[in-house]
Amino acid sequence: MFEQLKEKPADKIIALAQAYREDPRETKIDLGVGVYKTPEGVTPIMRAVKAAEKRLWEEETTKAYTALAGDPAFLDAMIGLVLGEAVARGQVAAIATPGGTGAVRQGFDLVKMAAPGARVFVSDPTWPNHLSILAHMGMEVVPYRYFDTATCAVDFAGMMVDLEGLRAGDVVLLHGCCHNPTGANLNLTEWRAVVDHLNARGALPMIDIAYQGFGDGLEADAAAVRFVAANCPEVLIAASCSKNFGIYRERTGILMAVAQERGLHKVTQGNLAYLNRQNYSFPPDHGARLVSMVLGDEALRADWQAELEELRLGMLKLREQMAAELQRLSGSDRFGFIAQHRGMFSLLGASPEQVARMREQHGIYMVGDSRINIAGLNASSVPVLARAMIEAGV
Ligand code: LMR
Repeated sequence: MFEQLKEKPADKIIALAQAYREDPRETKIDLGVGVYKTPEGVTPIMRAVKAAEKRLWEEETTKAYTALAGDPAFLDAMIGLVLGEAVARGQVAAIATPGGTGAVRQGFDLVKMAAPGARVFVSDPTWPNHLSILAHMGMEVVPYRYFDTATCAVDFAGMMVDLEGLRAGDVVLLHGCCHNPTGANLNLTEWRAVVDHLNARGALPMIDIAYQGFGDGLEADAAAVRFVAANCPEVLIAASCSKNFGIYRERTGILMAVAQERGLHKVTQGNLAYLNRQNYSFPPDHGARLVSMVLGDEALRADWQAELEELRLGMLKLREQMAAELQRLSGSDRFGFIAQHRGMFSLLGASPEQVARMREQHGIYMVGDSRINIAGLNASSVPVLARAMIEAGV
């Protein structure tokens, strides 16, 4: 039977990581996969996570199964972190998932069960795996304009024109903060207009929030998702703990389904637990438990927030250095957007040829659409990248 299988296209982010590993040049620079790195190129275990892990090792007495939906303490803690006081707990059905990707996948699955013909509107561009998962699931995708390549900012007018095509029951996939890959984000006035439009059309917002705390801070980064949850009849939210807790390989995420109509909670919660059971039974627990320990302990939480803030400010500083260096080299302000963007990524607006040239000549690895991981830079590689960009004619 296996001879029937067809070759699958490699995921371009994962393939890039492999190509980087195989490059023997010592001066190579990895700006590919979205993993935080210190200036020394290390992805550290956060202090509070390490402390929670120690405590867990001492205190955990069983590895028996958790609930199908995941540990309730984790769900409560994450609902609090993402949604704050925006909605009542009784309005939120939720499951723990293997990472943010697992939450995205389960979210699409829930949509498919509830509305088999629903189309999913996605920003152009979006995280490539969104498209890959949707294609794998046979769901219809409608791209909407999002990024203005001339200004490297959000093309909000284009986005709203394309969302005119929405029909009742369609889903609109939005990035809660720190848009991946562009780094360009809607402001709250624009979110308001999007919410009004979706509500007028009867479309469902689905928000992927994988970088809370990496943009303008934990609370500011959650403002849009909270606004949408408080103002739409229903919303799906896929949140990841991979980046803000630095627990990538533990696969820790949550899918939330918020409904204003309280009567929907029981059936939605039941369907979410059912989906977990069909796909992998019980969700991974180790990372989830660390997260609930950190969020539930005042001292650990404060330390985690302080460290997260250090990471965020470090990335902002690199953005400012990069914009300043490019201004110096190019004699123009056209790269000012790098300091305006938020989160781990910026789309530089380089052509695939320019991206290839920077990789061949300087060993600089960025995704083919010219997405860079800001955290892959440090004070000494910023000028190297800036010079390579100018040389390549970006
Ligand atoms: C990324 O976009 O690089 C990250 O979300 C990691 C991944 O799984 O692609």
